[in-house]
Amino acid sequence: MTADEKKKQAAIAALDYVKPGSIIGVGTGSTVNHFIDALAEKMKGSVEAAVSSSEASTERMKNHGIPVIDLNSAGELSIYVDGADESNRHLHLIKGGGGALTREKIVAAASKTFVCIADDSKLVNILGKFPLPVEVIPMARSMVARELTKMGGQPVWRENFVTDNGNQILDVHNLEIMEPMKMETQINQIAGVVTVGIFAHRPADVLLLGGEDGVRTVSA
Ligand code: 5RP
Repeated sequence: MTADEKKKQAAIAALDYVKPGSIIGVGTGSTVNHFIDALAEKMKGSVEAAVSSSEASTERMKNHGIPVIDLNSAGELSIYVDGADESNRHLHLIKGGGGALTREKIVAAASKTFVCIADDSKLVNILGKFPLPVEVIPMARSMVARELTKMGGQPVWRENFVTDNGNQILDVHNLEIMEPMKMETQINQIAGVVTVGIFAHRPADVLLLGGEDGVRTVSA
């Protein structure tokens, strides 16, 4: 079974968490693309609307006829469905491989339940093998990179990439994130950082992992 088939399984399993008539939050990435397609195919017209975490997901949902609304008009969302680049057993995540981390963190914060969907390779013991994305204000990029280097990481500028918010991304290599909450706070304190891709203060509530033997549910 390919990683993509595993992602699709997890995405379909997330439909069980969607309450008909609700407004849901929708993340970004190849796993979420499967979720959007499955939502359109198997639950057509069932959700009232979605709040999107990226221009890419907005476009995909609109193409399927799923109404997309602004978070400011939505109130608290019942669920947020999104993928991840890594998860530990506490459901602390690394996100932002697709560069949508800031809006993802906002929509996750606005949601009652965060359902994370992934293939089983994403579950790790210690976060940090996947380079940690950090969204920065462009003028602060080099300064923030120096601060991240002092913390032991090796930041690499994701060149030719601009986020939906008009900012830039540093991907920080070689971090062993032993204390995700502490590091999330520490990096968010650096002037010029918009968002760090550690989701520990607001972790996922449920992780659906697609694997050879079906979908495994991990709860925090
Ligand atoms: C985008 C993300 C994605 O959820 C993450 O990169 C996982 O992507 P995929 O589902 O394609 O493996 O955080 O910013």
